[in-house]
Amino acid sequence: MGLPRIILAMSLYASSLVVSPFALAQQTGEELLRSKACLGCHQVDAKRLGPSFTLVAQRYGAVDGGQDYLALVIRQGSRGRWGAVPMPAQPQVSEQDANAIAQWILTLVEPEGKQERQ
Ligand code: HEC
Repeated sequence: MGLPRIILAMSLYASSLVVSPFALAQQTGEELLRSKACLGCHQVDAKRLGPSFTLVAQRYGAVDGGQDYLALVIRQGSRGRWGAVPMPAQPQVSEQDANAIAQWILTLVEPEGKQERQ
């Protein structure tokens, strides 16, 4: 292997180290959402049948226990919080996955945004 190749290999390796933790966290949340059919009714930043996950994050980001609450409603469903259409329970989502999704949803707002209570 010539020197340029080694340098290329090293820089590829270094850049993958920098990018991967963030990409991984994003992917895990999105992969879960996709695999659990949430995106049939939700989008990250636009209203569909249900509220956008960004709005959900804005509403609950400042609330104590917001993540636990979200993990609960993801599995049990919700009604009367956003409009006339209720969200059906999602029993196919494990407690652990619901918790991971809730955590990911709350990362959609910046910490500064968490000051504003809605
Ligand atoms: C059949 C359509 C549908 C599916 C599938 C669905 N949702 Fe919803 N979701 C809704 C609707 C409608 C609401 C608004 C309910 C309300 O007004 O309380 C909602 C509300 C929510 C809320 C806010 C709840 C609250 O109390 O404020 C979260 C969080 C949420 N959904 C996450 C998810 C996740 C995660 C999934 C996938 C596991 C999912 N939803 C699947 C329709 C759906």
